[in-house]
Amino acid sequence: MQVTIDGNSVEVSSETTVLEAIRSLGGDVPTLCFDQRQAPFGACRVCLVGVEGAPGPIPACTTPCRDGMTIDTEDATARRVVKAVVELVLSELPDPPAEHTELAVVARGLGVGEPRWTGRRHEVRHDQRHPYLAFQHELCISCGRCVRACDEVQGAFALTATGRGFDANVAAGLDAGFRNSTCVSCGACADTCPTDAIIEITLLQMSDVP
Ligand code: SF4
Ligand code: FES
Repeated sequence: MQVTIDGNSVEVSSETTVLEAIRSLGGDVPTLCFDQRQAPFGACRVCLVGVEGAPGPIPACTTPCRDGMTIDTEDATARRVVKAVVELVLSELPDPPAEHTELAVVARGLGVGEPRWTGRRHEVRHDQRHPYLAFQHELCISCGRCVRACDEVQGAFALTATGRGFDANVAAGLDAGFRNSTCVSCGACADTCPTDAIIEITLLQMSDVP
């Protein structure tokens, strides 16, 4: 089948997602809950794009291509919604994300700086019971990547998504902590986390050094 992206046509197979089609042409859109090592999840709505004839923007990471689709990665409505989503995420953090994190990179790419509004912010809550991994719960944006990495990549099933809305977070070992969970210390969760909410303790200690 054929799809057109920003005026350029490309042949794709029926399993191809819109995000894969965009990237096959060398283009890109921001993502936060997407990790190409995992099944698409569609949680963050940061990959929204416009599609001709659609009633509103669609998530590129979970939407399969259709023959004849015309995709606009710069769709004004999609850009506006995505910026608002990222600004909302930032507004809930106690501090701006570290510069090197995926969240900070996405925000910079979208031109989203200090949030214009301040509402409830997550309270600092650290779990450092694991010998190698620290969990900075206040930085969790509930993207689900760590849970999927643990389940799909490692098969350890040590992490669980908890709560809803503002209170959504992740628990290790049914909240008994990493140490008392089925965690095998592979580090896949820390590797995929886009905010450093889960981080190797050695890296956390290095970032604390002035
Ligand atoms: S801990 Fe990190 S990877 Fe896991 S849901 Fe929160 S932000 Fe996403
Ligand atoms: S990256 Fe597509 S919904 Fe999160």
